[in-house]
Amino acid sequence: MLIKEAFGAREKSYAPYSHFHVGAALLTKNSKVYTGCNIENAAFSPANCAERTAIFKAVSEGEKDFVKIAIVGGAEGKTMEYCPPCGVCRQVMREFTVPEKFVIVLAKSLKEYREYTLAELFPEGFGPENL
Ligand code: THU
Repeated sequence: MLIKEAFGAREKSYAPYSHFHVGAALLTKNSKVYTGCNIENAAFSPANCAERTAIFKAVSEGEKDFVKIAIVGGAEGKTMEYCPPCGVCRQVMREFTVPEKFVIVLAKSLKEYREYTLAELFPEGFGPENL
């Protein structure tokens, strides 16, 4: 299950500066799952979010058709609240998906989750068709 994979990915989070641990699991059209965690850096700005780690792993393996992403996160590896994707990650999702179809699952637990489309979280985004 995608949410479970996101929790597993969060275990790998490298977040010694923010102590905010995030995991993501991305489902492709041909049923593969790519996981990702946030990876921080002493210089701060090179940090990469869990969602982008998962998406870039997939694209680098030749996968560009995405169905859904599950995201879990929280301070000190605990899950108190939903963890919505940052604006940069929404923009990266916009590049590879149809916003009305791509589903973003924000989870607090395996049972407690919310589903959105990218179009709901990132309306009127700038995409490849705008160039
Ligand atoms: N972060 C993610 O990985 N994904 C999100 O959706 C929100 C924020 C990371 C970036 C940084 O390492 C830490 O969480 C605190 O912002």
